[in-house]
Amino acid sequence: MRAWAPGRVNLIGDHTDYTGGLALPMALNLGTTVEGDLGGEMVRLRSDGEDGEAAVPLSIEDPRAVEPAWARYVAGVVWAVRPRVGFDGRVTTTLPIGAGLSSSAALEVAMALALGFAGSPLELALACQQAEQRASGVPSGILDQLASASGVAGHALLMDCHALTVTPVPVPDDVEVVVVDSGQARTLATSAYGDRRAACEAAEDRIGPLRTATVADVERLEDPVLRSRARHVVTENQRVQGFSAALSAGRLVECGRLMVESHRSLAEDFEVSTPRLDALVATLTATPGVFGARLTGAGFGGCVVALAEPGAIEGGWHVRGADGARVG
Ligand code: GLA
Repeated sequence: MRAWAPGRVNLIGDHTDYTGGLALPMALNLGTTVEGDLGGEMVRLRSDGEDGEAAVPLSIEDPRAVEPAWARYVAGVVWAVRPRVGFDGRVTTTLPIGAGLSSSAALEVAMALALGFAGSPLELALACQQAEQRASGVPSGILDQLASASGVAGHALLMDCHALTVTPVPVPDDVEVVVVDSGQARTLATSAYGDRRAACEAAEDRIGPLRTATVADVERLEDPVLRSRARHVVTENQRVQGFSAALSAGRLVECGRLMVESHRSLAEDFEVSTPRLDALVATLTATPGVFGARLTGAGFGGCVVALAEPGAIEGGWHVRGADGARVG
């Protein structure tokens, strides 16, 4: 059995998925391969890049108690998928681990397929979202796993996280998507992610679903922190729509402007940026031939994504939209 699953970069639409909003990720041509044989009563996996072995009983109840830490994602998948037989194999990846390109989602999705999961891409993503939450204790949304499961080569994926639909949006040939690692580990991501999600839920208790709220609704919120958090979500959903339309029409200057606005909103209203991410975005956007740049994913470190004319940015990962996860 052999399965491959891509990582993802989010072009725009961060911290919108868990309130049923919009996002525009792209499955990457970087990903994770799980290869091995079905059989036995344990799921065993060794990694080329990480120490130790994952050795997970089929009846696993608490994936967070498993060691080494990377094996928790394997345990989360076993917990979510409940395979009837075990597995013995290896995992290799071309993704940077823990840099914010969803290396954990790629491992989960590849592992689930290697264990014989046979549902639709959406069912695969939902099972792996459960696995991620169980493994990490973070109440993460569907973005990463759905991007990995349903990628389309040469396209970004317009995701409606309420309807759970994915609409491929072609990425023009004359533009480059470049991912640059800030080198800053995402230390606060776990606790702060839960705080931000709780703030969005508190705002929704007062003004109703953020996915249908207007900026005028948000301005009615009395608490200034909730108002800022909600304003980010409502305006970010609008930017995803504007960016998707502009990308399809090849209006790249407009795409870049929306990326810069998105970064500012994530930094000032949602407060998930860092000085290092801000500086990297400023350097990239001041570079000739770069349309725009923004932090991508949860924030608090990790990567920045830029849209640029070919050749404008040296270094980083020059990525393309890839097909979603597959067996074989
Ligand atoms: C992480 C989560 C996703 C999403 C992003 C922010 O990647 O796993 O569900 O919330 O952060 O957009």
